[in-house]
Amino acid sequence: MDDSPNHKKTLRSQAWFGRQDKMGFYYRSFLKNSGFPQDQFEGKPVIGICNSGSELTPCNAHFSAIAEHVRYGVLEAGGFPLEFPVSSLGEVTMRPTAMLFRNLASMDVEEAIRAHPLDGVVLLMGCDKTTPALLMGAASADLPAIGVSGGPQLRGVYRGQIIGSGTSIISMSEQLRAGEITIQEFHEAEGGMNRSSGHCMTMGTASTMASMVEALGIGMPENAAIPAADARRNQLARMAGRRIVDMVREDLKPSDILTRQAFENAIRTLAAIGGSTNAVVHLLAIAGRVGIELTLEDFDRLGRDVHCLVDLMPSGRFLMEDFYYAGGLPVVLRALGERGLLNKDAPTVNGRSIWENVREASCWNSEVITPFEEPFKPEAGIAILTGNLAPDGAVIKPSAASPELMRHTGRAVVFESVEEMHHAVNDDDLDIDASCIMVLKHCGPKGYPGMAEVGNMPLPAKLLRQGVRDMIRISDARMSGTAYGTVVLHVAPEATAGGPLALVRNGDLITLDVPARSLHLHVDEAELAVRRAAWTPPAPHAERGYTRLYIDHVLQADRGADFDFLVGRSGSPVPRDNH
Ligand code: FES
Repeated sequence: MDDSPNHKKTLRSQAWFGRQDKMGFYYRSFLKNSGFPQDQFEGKPVIGICNSGSELTPCNAHFSAIAEHVRYGVLEAGGFPLEFPVSSLGEVTMRPTAMLFRNLASMDVEEAIRAHPLDGVVLLMGCDKTTPALLMGAASADLPAIGVSGGPQLRGVYRGQIIGSGTSIISMSEQLRAGEITIQEFHEAEGGMNRSSGHCMTMGTASTMASMVEALGIGMPENAAIPAADARRNQLARMAGRRIVDMVREDLKPSDILTRQAFENAIRTLAAIGGSTNAVVHLLAIAGRVGIELTLEDFDRLGRDVHCLVDLMPSGRFLMEDFYYAGGLPVVLRALGERGLLNKDAPTVNGRSIWENVREASCWNSEVITPFEEPFKPEAGIAILTGNLAPDGAVIKPSAASPELMRHTGRAVVFESVEEMHHAVNDDDLDIDASCIMVLKHCGPKGYPGMAEVGNMPLPAKLLRQGVRDMIRISDARMSGTAYGTVVLHVAPEATAGGPLALVRNGDLITLDVPARSLHLHVDEAELAVRRAAWTPPAPHAERGYTRLYIDHVLQADRGADFDFLVGRSGSPVPRDNH
């Protein structure tokens, strides 16, 4: 560390702690009540440990332990660590959907960073929405930052069987309904599934986003897969704590890391891991915060030739723990790099390029991470659809869909709300057969509000009894990263914003053509104009408060569902004094 007086002036925190006047007294004196001696305030980089841990977010409940390891690392490198809490977002417990609060949490993160005497931050994140929220806020604040994920849980185990987050819950709840297992067995399985700290251990949205952190270069190598309960997760946290102090010295900021090249690497990685469709929305939002012009078309173009290399649930057999033992994300990144599918020079937080980080990665289990020449699933990138039903785009995950439905024309069966859909699918009088297309409206960013994970609608009970296991479903909603099916999501503009989805009626014909990337409503323009003239938007879900702010300012899914006034970054100039 350069301890010269000139260097001290360059530290942002010195605008607080370096003052030798009344205000300097305030700033130092009040912190000294925690036992910090005077030398802590004399030119050490101040590192915020941005902690999204909460008992209400079980996936992040272990974060105080991880924060301690970050703290050790910061101290070892000569920094001054200060931990602070930010909003936490528990995916399974928050209603109506944690996504409603992603932007709110990102504002909390951004403003907390900017308002305090910080020179750099380590971001502790894990459960689905905490990762994009912290990245979005830190990107807008643009102080040196490292993302540290909390890590996935250990494999779920119940009566000798491996069970995976989300994926196995669905099958066991159906067994309970069918009387095949007792409520006591159900409770026993609950404890077996979530038997350690950490987030969902399938390749759902949390593991996908932890992989995005690593692929973007904003996290340390191996960030994606080390289980939360593995001591190496703590080692990674400690190394991040050491490294962030150097990053402050180097003034290496998110805007230096989160380049277009980094996002292209992330998009190809998303295809190679068969990742969650939710990552599309989150990556678009993060890119928007650093001024990168990322579009839905980028996802289709860059992911189109990439194979899925990992045999992980929900589409495969294994879990994140297996992925780590097989070599983890560095093996996947190396495979991409060897085939010209990685921007090798993209910088990462450890000061090395992404290729330098992964070029010697070894695969220890080719069943879990398959060779590129014999992939788990070929050409698995998320496909982007457009057409008169989705002028601004929609997404589908072909690897989770039925091949025979990739080109299909069917009769629309329309649900105006998720409540109507839930009631109708159990009604044996519902006029529907397996060739129909289920259409759900008003579940987009404004419509739900918050864009709930309801796009993978349950199939009608009477068709399930006939053995039907998949149908085309179309909506403006999202779906869980652990879900399956021929499900068209994120239709933009959404119905509540007046998109053509709002005009679909029962009996209309719709054609889905994934190879042609098309979603077409067979209703002519004149008829659509008549319907549009008769259409009135539904009343907003809230008249006041945060939900009203959200409805008024949220952008559509093709722009990441960020707030219009949050796009871009403001950096972290030292705020005005309050005296
Ligand atoms: Fe938190 Fe799945 S509920 S990651």
